[in-house]
Amino acid sequence: MKYGFFDDANREYCITTPFTPLPWINYLGNDGFFGLISNTAGGYCFYRDAKLRRITRYRYNNIPNDIGGRLYYIKDGNTVWSPAYRPAETELDSYECRHGMGYTTFNSTKDGVNAKLTFFVPLGDACELHRLEVVNNSNETKELTLYSGIEWCLWNAVDDSQNYQRNLSIGELEVIGSTIYHKTEYRERRNHYAFFTVNTEVDGFDTDRDVFLGAGRAWNKPVQVENGKSGNTVASGWYPIASHSIKVTLAPGEKKSYVFQLGYIEVPRDQKWESKGIINKKPAVELINKYNSDAAFEAAFKALKDYWDNLLSIYHVESKDEKVNRMVNIWHQYQVMVTFNMSRSASYWETGIGRGMGFRDSCQDLLGFMHLIPERARDRIIDIASIQFENGSTYHQYQPLTKRGNADIGGGFNDDPLWLVACTAAYIRETGDTTILDHPTPFNNVEGSEKPLMEHLRRSINFTINNKGPHGLPLIGRADWNDCLNLNCFSEEPGESFQTFGPSEGPVAESVFIAGMFVKYGKEYADICDYVGLTDEAKTIRAEVEKVKTATEEFGWDGEWFLRAYDAYGNKVGSNECEEGKIFIEPQGFCTMAGIGQEKGFGAKALDSLYKYLVNDYGIEILAPCYTTYHVELGEISSYPPGYKENGAIFTHNNPWCSVAATVIGDAEKAFDIYKRSCPAFLEDVSEIHRTEPYVYSQMIAGRAAVHYGEAKNSFLTGTAAWVVVDITQAILGVQPTLQGLSIKPCVTKDFGSYSVVRKYRGAKYDINVIQDGSGKGLVVDGAAVEGNLIPAVEGKKEYKVEFYI
Ligand code: BGC
Ligand code: NOJ
Repeated sequence: MKYGFFDDANREYCITTPFTPLPWINYLGNDGFFGLISNTAGGYCFYRDAKLRRITRYRYNNIPNDIGGRLYYIKDGNTVWSPAYRPAETELDSYECRHGMGYTTFNSTKDGVNAKLTFFVPLGDACELHRLEVVNNSNETKELTLYSGIEWCLWNAVDDSQNYQRNLSIGELEVIGSTIYHKTEYRERRNHYAFFTVNTEVDGFDTDRDVFLGAGRAWNKPVQVENGKSGNTVASGWYPIASHSIKVTLAPGEKKSYVFQLGYIEVPRDQKWESKGIINKKPAVELINKYNSDAAFEAAFKALKDYWDNLLSIYHVESKDEKVNRMVNIWHQYQVMVTFNMSRSASYWETGIGRGMGFRDSCQDLLGFMHLIPERARDRIIDIASIQFENGSTYHQYQPLTKRGNADIGGGFNDDPLWLVACTAAYIRETGDTTILDHPTPFNNVEGSEKPLMEHLRRSINFTINNKGPHGLPLIGRADWNDCLNLNCFSEEPGESFQTFGPSEGPVAESVFIAGMFVKYGKEYADICDYVGLTDEAKTIRAEVEKVKTATEEFGWDGEWFLRAYDAYGNKVGSNECEEGKIFIEPQGFCTMAGIGQEKGFGAKALDSLYKYLVNDYGIEILAPCYTTYHVELGEISSYPPGYKENGAIFTHNNPWCSVAATVIGDAEKAFDIYKRSCPAFLEDVSEIHRTEPYVYSQMIAGRAAVHYGEAKNSFLTGTAAWVVVDITQAILGVQPTLQGLSIKPCVTKDFGSYSVVRKYRGAKYDINVIQDGSGKGLVVDGAAVEGNLIPAVEGKKEYKVEFYI
C-alpha cells in the first residue's frame, strides 16, 4: 500500500494523506540554519547545533508524536482548520504534502477555501520562510482569521527539557509591530536572538502560551483561535511562543498571500543593545526587509531550485529502470546532503540532544557527498581530523557548534582512524587536489599542535599497525563499525553505557572487519603516497597490508565465510562453531571489497553464504542466528530482541558494502539484487509494512526473527545514503573517480540494458554511453578506442564523449 507517489519531474514525493504510518519528514536548510518538517508541518529548527542552538521546541515521546512545530490555523465561521491537517486536526476536503529538495509544500481545501503553505530556508540566510496563500473558491465572500504559531525553545534543548525551576522564570520577548523577538538570556551571556514576523500588519498577537491555548488545552484547540481573538500578550517567563492573527476578507475568486519569517540573529557583543534592555534589531530588520514580499519569496525559492538543479546535474543517469533513475538522480543524492549536514544528530529518531557529529559517520557520509560540493567536503575533513589524538586514535564524536571532541564518549573505537583515510582518498580522487594533504591540522584542537593532514593519515594507518592482537589482526577497542559488538566491555549493571563502560582497550579482542578496512584503506593510502612521490612509504605500507591480508586469510576465514572477530578470551565470533551469531555480514562485505583471499575464491563463497543465511525479502540481515540470551562478553549486540538493530535486522548501511563487494568479484546479478532489495523506491508498494518514508533509507529494517518483520526504523540519518551512492553510481554503473582521472568500469546485468550518464568531473563534462551490444569492445573516447578503463584526461578539454561497449 502507498501513501503517495513520486513526482520525478518536480523532484518531489507527494504524500496524499496526513495519516502516514509514521511522520514522514523532510529537511529545510543548507548551511547553518536547519529545520525538520513532517507531513503535518511538525518538527523544529535550529542554528548549526540541534542541541545547543535550538530555536523552536520539540516534545519528546509526545502523543501524537508529531504535534507542535509550524502552527497555522484558518478560522472560517465556526470551523477552524489547518492546511497541514495539524494542529487543528479538522477533517479536510483535500490534502496534499510535497517534500522536495530543501522545501515542503502543503495544498489543502476546506469549505471552498484553498490554502497553500510553502516552507524553505533561503540560501545563505539564517531563517525559515513560510508562505501562506489563501484563495476563496466559493461563491460567497469569506471572512477568515488566519493564525500563525511557533513555540520557542530556550536555546539549549537539553536544559530546556530538564531545568524547569530556572527556565520557567527566564523567558523574555519584545514585540514591535508584526515582529516578535525572542531574547531569553540575551540580557546576560548570549549574543543571539530569534524572531518571527509576517509581511503585513497584524490584527493581534500572542506570546504567552497559556493565554493563547487556554487552561488545559492543547495545540489542536487554542481558545484564542476558537474565539477569533488575540490577547496581545507579552510573556514573561513560563512558555514564550509567537503567534500572529490576521483578519482577511476574500471575495469569491480572490487570493491573498502572506510571507512569514522565522529568523536567527547573532550580534557582535559590543553592539548588543539599542538602549538599555532593548535589543539591537538592525540586523533583524535587514533580514526581514529582504524577504518581505511575494516577489522576494519567489526569487529566493527559485534560487533554491536552481541550486539543486545545478547540484543534481553533476551526476545524472538515464536507464530504462525508472526507480534507479529516480533514486540516483534525486533521492540518494539528497539524502547524502542531509547526512552530510546532520551526521546522526537530528531526525525524528535521533533527538538532536544526544549525539553530535560522529567521526566514522561523517567520514563515511563524505564518500557519497564528495562530488556535490568538494569545498565543503574539504573543510569537513579538516574539522574531523582536528579531533584526532596525537597517537592516531580519535574522539568518536564532536559538537558542530564548538567543533570540539565530546569528552563524555571519548575515543577507543578502533575503526575510526581508518575512515579518515577513506574520505581523504575519495576527496583526492574526486578533485585531484593534493594540497589538502599539506593543510596544517591540529590534534585534539590544541593550538600549536598543527601538522599537515598527511601526518594525520599516517598516524591513522600506523594506529592499526601498532594495535594488533594475538593473530596479527587489528584490536577492536571499544567497538568497530558495529557499535554494539562490545568485546571489552563486560557490563553487568542496567544503564551502563555499552559504548563507554569498561576499559577502552583489551590486548586480545580482534576485529576481522577492521582487518578488511585496513587492507582496503591501507592500499588507498599507499596509492596516495605513490601519487605524491612517497614511494618508499608506499612500499612499507603495502608490506603491512600484505601482513594483515595474510593474517586474515589464515585466521579470519571460517571455511565458508569470514569470521567476525575474536573475543576477549580469544574465542571466535561469527563462526560456524558458535551456537548463535554464526555469520555476520560486515566482514563478508569489507574483506571481499578489500580483495582478501580473492585468488582462493573467498569472496564468492562469502557472498554465497550471505544468500544462504542472511538474505530476506528486504535486504541482507546483519547476522544469524540472532542472539537469544545476553552475552556479557559480546555486549549490546546481544541486548536487542532478535531481529532488531544490530541483533539480526537488516542494518541497511552494510548492504551496499556487499553490493560493491559483488562488483569486485564481477557478480553483477548479486550486486544489483542487493541494491534493489533494500532500496526505498522498490519498497514503496509495501509502505504499510515498511512504515518509514519511501524516498530515503532507514537505519534498519526488522529481520525475519523480529516480531514486526519488514518494519523499518530510524529513517534519514544513516551511512547507507553515502554508501549507496558509491555502490550504484561508481561500482554498478561504473563511473569511477580515480587519482588519475575518470574511469569507466560498469558491472551491470544484461537485463539492465544500455544506459547513459552525464558526469561533471574536475572541470569537464563527460557524456557517457554504456552500450550493451555484446561486442565487448570496451572504452571509446571521442571516437577513438582506448585500452583499459581510464579516460585519458586532456589539459583544458571541457567535454568528452565516451562510449563503453560491453
Ligand atoms: C545503537 C547503535 C549506535 C550506538 C551509538 C547503540 O545503542 O544501537 O546503532 O551506533 O548506540 O549511539
Ligand atoms: C549507528 C552509528 O551511527 C554508526 O556509527 C554505527 O556504525 C552503526 N550504528 C552500527 O552500529
